[in-house]
Formats: sequence, structure tokens, C-alpha cells
Amino acid sequence: MKPRQEQEEDEERLRQRKLEESLEIKSLRRIISAYLNYPEAAEEDVKRYERSFRKLPPSHKGLLSHYPLKFQRLRRCISINSYFIFSMLQAFEPPLDMSQDIDDCGELHFERPPNDGNVCSHESTTARGSCSKLDEACCGEPSNVMSKLAEGLTAIEEMQIEGCHGSDAGSCLAGEENNKMAAECCGNHVSDSNGNVMVPSSPRDWLDPSFQLHVPLVDVDKVRCVIRNIVRDWAAEGQKERDQCYKPILEELNSLFPSLCNKSPPTCLVPGAGLGRLALEISCLGFVSQGNEFSYYMMICSSFILNQTQNAGEWTIYPWIHSNCNSLSDSDQLRPVSFPDIHPASAGITEGFSMCGGDFVEVYSDPSQVGVWDAVVTCFFIDTAHNIVEYIEIISRILKDGGVWINLGPLLYHFADMYGQEDEMSIELSLEDVKCVAFHYGFEVEKEKTIETTYTTNPRSMMQNRYFAAFWTMRKKSAAAEKHST
Ligand SMILES: C[S@@+](CC[C@H](N)C(=O)[O-])C[C@H]1O[C@@H](n2cnc3c(N)ncnc32)[C@H](O)[C@@H]1O
Repeated sequence: MKPRQEQEEDEERLRQRKLEESLEIKSLRRIISAYLNYPEAAEEDVKRYERSFRKLPPSHKGLLSHYPLKFQRLRRCISINSYFIFSMLQAFEPPLDMSQDIDDCGELHFERPPNDGNVCSHESTTARGSCSKLDEACCGEPSNVMSKLAEGLTAIEEMQIEGCHGSDAGSCLAGEENNKMAAECCGNHVSDSNGNVMVPSSPRDWLDPSFQLHVPLVDVDKVRCVIRNIVRDWAAEGQKERDQCYKPILEELNSLFPSLCNKSPPTCLVPGAGLGRLALEISCLGFVSQGNEFSYYMMICSSFILNQTQNAGEWTIYPWIHSNCNSLSDSDQLRPVSFPDIHPASAGITEGFSMCGGDFVEVYSDPSQVGVWDAVVTCFFIDTAHNIVEYIEIISRILKDGGVWINLGPLLYHFADMYGQEDEMSIELSLEDVKCVAFHYGFEVEKEKTIETTYTTNPRSMMQNRYFAAFWTMRKKSAAAEKHST
């Protein structure tokens, strides 16, 4: 029998774990609800455009006689986007028992914000001004997910978009132990005779309308941001941006690790991996590559693309429909984008590729991570920190002596200017100070330059936000070398 104090400590730990799990379920439910609210929120926008159009005097309306047709086309695009979203959710296996939260009445009362990371933090402004402009909770009738999905199917048929989805479960590309998401996301598709995905006969409980919360519009904006990230990572249209951001990193890895051998390949960690393309490309170079990501918004989507894709070009979305601003033409705004541009399972991924869900600080502060990695690659990531010094300290600690840290990105601190949330910690260093902190943690700079790039930008928009991103390679000096130099 354990002494009383130990028993009490055990009970306290258990209580703590249960509380954390219940918060995580709530936050996941909110994120799923944001995905499910996408069609309604988009429809509201179209209704708003229609209301404005109706207010026009007849002479002005006459000049814009094509507008009603545009609204109709917008609705079809929304249906097709929704169809993709619902197919993705159908395939998603939550890593937690969602039924624990199912008796909730559909109102929002969160003790903490959902674990949705900084999905939108580097995006250029949309029609809404920014991804976090609207922030009001509203509770009303939940929508009927299944009828929306059926709408999506009809729209797909109408537009004669060819979609071929096999009935097999996709291959689990990322099946490491710590990757609950990827390992558990191999659901089955049900196909009709044409190969189109049908609504499975027993929909997931947590996709039931009664489960859906009405979430703040800012949450739905995050879904739109994920859609833009799909273009960045997985569409041919994102190639230019990938060439600007990922190519210099891949070239640097290639030159630093020229002769990779299968026997003991180097290890590379990609914190804040987003939708996983960079981590996949690094795996294709021959590294044991691990992406780390803490946003369920991102992980639900990356897991679907990585694990469930049957063919390149399998899906079609309309990523640019949510902004009427800065369009050269309606056809630019309403253009389809197909993805993925490659079939991930046939891309040449090497052994050990994984996506690890969780907060970078929490996961990689674990003592088991000390000196594990040959390379850490951060792309548009380090400014997501509350405390960038902590990020740098951890990167240094988890690298082997002589290991390299390759970084590309701006310093657009995500938690800067969080008006109304004054207790939100945010340490906002200049590049000069970032480098000083890195030197303190044993890094020396091997390469440094500025790279001009965009982030999830519509290449046909009249507005293109450009970053002059810092690129560097720093090497962690070996303990002996460091001792010698001090
Ligand atoms: C601006 S995005 C960049 C994504 C990707 N690296 C790219 O270049 O497209 C930053 C990503 O980091 C993730 N993120 C933010 N804070 C994180 C943390 N503490 N741990 C893990 N991921 C985090 C966000 O969810 C988001 O996907």
C-alpha cells in the first residue's frame, strides 16, 4: 500500500490529466465545428454580396447583369470546397474519445483557446481585413452536415469534375508511435460506381449536427487559411512559393549532408510543419524526417493528404473565392486549383518519416530529445513563439554537437499586439538579438542571406505581401570546441 501523500499525488496527477484531456476534446470539437461551419459562413458572405447588389439602382444593376450568375457560381465553388472538407472530416479518426463531450448543448464556454496554432499568422490580408478580425461567439441552430455534403456531391456532378477515390484505406505514411493523428487516420472511403466518394452509411457521431457548435467567425477564417496553405504546400500553383521557401532549405541540406547512406541516415526535425510538404521533401532527400505541428486544423488536413491520397490531382478546391478584393477578373477569383500535385505515397519518402502532433516546447523539452537531431529546419516558425529564447534554447539542446539549424522566415511575432489579451507573453527580438541569443546557446553562423518571398499569397492578386525573410544556417559548436573558445 502506498503512503497517503503518494496516493494524494497520484490522484492529483490523474485529475490533472483528465482535465487536460477534457480541454483538448473541447478544443478539438471547436475546430471540427469550425470546419463544419465553413459552408454556412461562406453562404453568409454571398448573401451579403447579394444584399448589396439588390440595393443598387436599376441603371447600375444593368451594368452588372452577370452578377447573379457569379453568385450562383460562388455557391457551387463553396459546395465543392465543403465537399472536400467533409470528405476530410469523414476520414479523420480523433485521437480522443469525442463522445465524452457530446452532451454539450452547443454553446461555447472554453477555458482556453483551441490548440490551433498560428495557422494564419503570416497570411496576407483577405476580404475580411485579417484572419482574426471577427471574433464574436454566436449560438444558433446547427446546420445539417450531411445535406451539405450531398450538396457538394451534386455540385461536383454538375461541374463534371472527375474525382476518383478508391475504396481502399490510404497507406499510413507517417505511422510513428508519437503520431497519434497520422497513425489513426486511415479511414475507409465509400465510392459509387464512378469512383466518387459517397456519404458513408454510418456517419461519425461527432459529425452529427447535434455535435456541431456555432463558433466565432474567426475560427472559420482559420479553415480558409488552411485552404490557402493547401495551395502553398500541395498545388502546382504553390510551386513558385515552394521554390522560394523550401528549395533553398533543401539545397542547403543537400550540400551539408552530401552522401546520405541508407544504413544510418541523418535525422531532421521540422517544427511548425504546417501541411507537411517540407518534411516530406526532406524525407525524400534521405533523412529520417519528422514534422511537428500542434494545430489540429493543420494536422487533420495534412494527415488526410499524406495518408489518404489515391492519385495526384485527386481533389479540386476554389481557394480564392473568399475575397472580392484585388481581383483582375472574376475568372481569376473563381479558378479551380487541383491537388495534390504529387501522389505523396509515390514521392520517394524514406524510412522513418513521421508527423508528431503537439506543442514544440512541450514535446521537445523532454529529456529523451537531448542531442537527438542532426538538423532542425524552421520555416516561418520561430516567430510563433511566446518566448523565442526558449525556442532557440530547445533547438540547441535537441541538436547533436555539430548539428545544424536552418531557418527561413520573418519575425512577425504572432503574439505581438494582442490587444485585450495583456497577459499573453510575447518576447519580440530583433534579428540582431535573435543571433546574440543563438550565439549564447552555442551556435555559430555558417551562412546568412535575405530571401524575398510570399506566404500563401494568391499569385494572381493585385496585392502581394512580400517578406524579406532571414535565411541562415547555424551550427551547434561541439561542447569541446565551445569550452576551448571561452
Ligand atoms: C506560419 S505557419 C508555417 C508552416 C510551414 N512551416 C510553412 O512554411 O508553410 C507556422 C506553423 O507552426 C505551427 N505552430 C505554431 N506554434 C507551434 C508550436 N508551439 N508547436 C508546434 N507547432 C506550432 C502553426 O500551427 C503553423 O502551422
